[in-house]
Amino acid sequence: HDRAHKSGTAGRLTLTVQMMQNPQILAALQERLDGLVGSPSGYMESLPKVVKRRVNALKNLQVKCAHIEAKFYEEVHELERKYAALYQPLFDKRSDIVKAAYEPTDEECEWKADDEEELTEEMKEKAKVEEEKKDEEKEDPKGIPEFWLTVFKNVDLLSDMLQEHDEPILKHLQDIKVKFSDQGQPMSFSLEFYFEPNEFFTNTLLTKTYKMRSEPDESDPFSFDGPEIMGCTGCTIDWTKGKNVTLKTIKKKQKHKGRGTVRTVTKTVPNDSFFNFFTPPEVPESGELDEDSEAVLAADFEIGHFIRERIVPRAVLYFTGEAIEDDDDDVSMEGEEEGEEENDPDYDPKVGGRMPTVDLM
Ligand SMILES: *[C@@H]1O[C@H](CO)[C@@H](O)[C@H](O)[C@H]1NC(C)=O
Ligand SMILES: *[C@@H]1O[C@H](CO)[C@@H](O)[C@H](O)[C@H]1NC(C)=O
Repeated sequence: HDRAHKSGTAGRLTLTVQMMQNPQILAALQERLDGLVGSPSGYMESLPKVVKRRVNALKNLQVKCAHIEAKFYEEVHELERKYAALYQPLFDKRSDIVKAAYEPTDEECEWKADDEEELTEEMKEKAKVEEEKKDEEKEDPKGIPEFWLTVFKNVDLLSDMLQEHDEPILKHLQDIKVKFSDQGQPMSFSLEFYFEPNEFFTNTLLTKTYKMRSEPDESDPFSFDGPEIMGCTGCTIDWTKGKNVTLKTIKKKQKHKGRGTVRTVTKTVPNDSFFNFFTPPEVPESGELDEDSEAVLAADFEIGHFIRERIVPRAVLYFTGEAIEDDDDDVSMEGEEEGEEENDPDYDPKVGGRMPTVDLM
């Protein structure tokens, strides 16, 4: 549909040039032009029948290309699965260091900062003294405290969901893993959130699974542009009594109509919380959703994709803030076509079905 639009534009452009050169036919052309403006198919309709027929053949070829492309993305998924297994030992070690299950050696901790050589000896000495002072003040931290909470706070997309009452809970988050669906299974990925035992809920693992589809839509095959997220499922959180932050109780004064007496009733209503992430709206078979659910899901798919694609692979850079700048650039390029392919050659998770499109990168 985009392409048809562009050819329409090119056609109008040629006409415009002719008009400028020959003012006498301007009126006649203008009339024709008016007919074309706003109807991208106008140019197509102006073509001879035999040509139109051949264009249809090209379109059929294009549909076949979309199906091959879908296969390509299935293989990409397979490759990702294969490489995920290679990354995993490193992510496990990261997790062990974060949660103090493993103390890295001096050699493993050696890291030369880019700007270090520019520091004078004197400045280095001063920095060292300050570091030591800082260490003395804090009493023996374990691992890297609040690692994932800090990551969450540093990423706008996530910090927007974060409520103050979520923070003490997320301090207990020890790892996030991505699991890809097995070969031969319907395409999906799961985010696994691992928690240390805590006072808020009894789960040690919270999961969120995103169903994907790598298949051109029958009714709109040309929009195919890689796998789409079609829907997601969360999990039940077993909150301990009184700790369910996704609920709040409100007190309401109620006046008895007849007697005029006032009594206070308490009601529980949903509360904003990051943990609502684990109870997303369901996408019904029909694909029809109300506006609210649609907005929630569009944001949710974006977040799920972002955690998978950016946060989990490079968590430390979000902890330090080094990765943040790049992503601001990405956001500013939203909607610009050049940025997309460059930054994210594999997945362009659009929200499937009738829901709004999310262009991420
Ligand atoms: C509900 O949300 C408010 C503000 O977001 C927060 O102060 C409050 O603690 C939450 N309620 C519960 C029960 O967690
Ligand atoms: C916590 O609150 C949610 C609503 O946000 C509710 O669906 C769920 O049943 C509650 N869980 C517990 C254990 O109270």
